[in-house]
Formats: sequence, C-alpha cells, structure tokens
Amino acid sequence: MIRIIQFVSLIIVFFSFTAIAETKLSSSELVNTKKIINNLCIACHAIDGNSVITVNPKLAGQHAAYITKQLNNFKSGLRENVVMAGMVANLTEEDMINLGHYFSEQNILLSSAIENGVGSLGENIFRAGIKNKGVAACASCHGPSGHGIPDKYPRLNAQHSEYTLAQLNAFRLELRKNDPAGVMRTIAQKLTEHEMQSVADYIQGLR
Ligand code: HEC
Ligand code: HEC
Repeated sequence: MIRIIQFVSLIIVFFSFTAIAETKLSSSELVNTKKIINNLCIACHAIDGNSVITVNPKLAGQHAAYITKQLNNFKSGLRENVVMAGMVANLTEEDMINLGHYFSEQNILLSSAIENGVGSLGENIFRAGIKNKGVAACASCHGPSGHGIPDKYPRLNAQHSEYTLAQLNAFRLELRKNDPAGVMRTIAQKLTEHEMQSVADYIQGLR
C-alpha cells in the first residue's frame, strides 16, 4: 500500500513539473504576448509561429534569445526590413523577450525537400561544406540536423526554402549585415545561386 502511495505521488510530482516546464511566461505575460501576436504578427507568422506563406519565416522552435536579438536588430535598423521595423517600433524590451520565449516553445511543423534529399548537392554542402572554395559545413555551426546551438546559432531545419534562399542572398549582397563578424556574409559570397538553392531546399526537409 505504501509503495502504491509513493508511486502515485511520484507520478503527480512528475506531471506537475512537466506542467511548469511548458512555458517560461507567467499567465499575465502569456496573455499579453498572445495579444501582441493577435494584433500584429498573426497574419504573417500564424499564432504558433508556423507561417504558411513561404516568404515569411517560421518562428516556432527558434531559440528564444535569437528571436529577441532579431527583434532588437529590426528595431535599431541593424537588420533592415521596412515591414518588421514597423512591427517592433512600439514593443518594449520585455515584450521582445516574451515573444522569444513564446515562439521558442511552439513546435515547428516539419516539411520536406523538393529535390535535395539524401545524397544531393544540398546535403553535401550542409554536411561537408565546399572544400575548394573554403566554405565551412553549415552543420558545423547550425548542428547536424540544423537545430542550431543556443543562443548564437539559429535553428534552420524545416524553414521555408524560399525564406532561407532570400536570407542567403541578402547576406551575399550585404543587404543583411547583422551576422556577428560577418560570418554569414563571408559564406554566402562564396556560393553560387544554384548552390544556395540546393542547400536551402535540403534544409527545408531536415528533421
Ligand atoms: C506583413 C507580414 C509580417 C508581419 C505582420 C510580421 N512579420 Fe515578422 N517577418 C516578416 C518577414 C517578411 C520577415 C523576413 C524579413 C527579412 O527578410 O529580413 C520577418 C522576420 C521576422 C523575424 C526574424 C526571423 C528569423 O529567423 O531571423 C522575427 C523574429 C519576426 N519576424 C517576428 C515577428 C513578430 C514578433 C511580429 C509581430 C510583432 C511580426 N514578425 C510581424 C513578415 C511579417
Ligand atoms: C561559422 C559558423 C557558421 C557557419 C559555418 C554557417 N553559419 Fe549560418 N549563421 C551563423 C550565425 C552566427 C548566424 C546568425 C546571424 C545573426 O545573428 O543574425 C547564422 C544565420 C544563418 C541564417 C539566417 C537564419 C534566420 O532565420 O535568421 C541562415 C539562413 C544561415 N545561417 C544559413 C547557413 C547555411 C546554408 C550555411 C552553410 C552553407 C551556414 N549558415 C553556415 C553561423 C554560421
């Protein structure tokens, strides 16, 4: 009997811990964050950050601090984008931290590659880089499955290939300049359009 009681209380403790671990936000922070998303973000990024329109990035499952950094960069203009600059103009630092937590806690919807699966050029670039051009493997910073490494290296897997390709081109043309030490600009400038398309397609299918 005592054993059973111990077992049951253990289960209760386990479930109460998982319930607490669900969100870092207090209930009032959660209400406020959802209000911001419903007012400003939902049309393009969806309530759970799994945007359907492929030019708008999925935010679900992205590292919290990375999201907050991007929002700050849009606000300061370090990352130039007219639409996103308008979205963040009236957000406080606390709002941006809470939005980071909220989206990082949503599950990203997986997708698939169109042409660049196992054995493709896209996979080769992702896993091994391009040695004769001095391009490091994407996996060395973004992780073997593209899940990223918090806080500096963003998650890439399952992202819309159209968005990933647009970012690679933005880095290549130095339209996006908020990558520390120009790390992504240096890499993108060594890639051809075909190589960028291939790796972006492979990344869309990564799980
Ligand atoms: C009208 C559509 C639109 C709305 C509304 C919108 N976004 Fe965006 N968002 C975009 C686009 C397009 C980009 C890509 C910008 C670029 O190319 O640099 C983006 C990029 C981002 C990024 C960077 C993601 C990454 O992986 O680097 C974050 C974070 C973000 N948005 C959060 C938000 C939040 C939070 C809101 C609401 C406060 C919001 N967005 C509202 C269209 C939108
Ligand atoms: C040496 C480390 C490193 C390597 C190698 C690397 N990246 Fe990155 N990447 C970064 C960092 C750091 C950022 C974040 C930039 C920022 O803070 O805005 C980034 C950002 C990105 C982004 C923007 C994500 C977003 O949603 O904002 C894309 C896309 C990307 N990398 C693709 C790639 C691809 C494809 C490769 C391989 C060809 C690659 N990266 C190799 C370090 C790296």
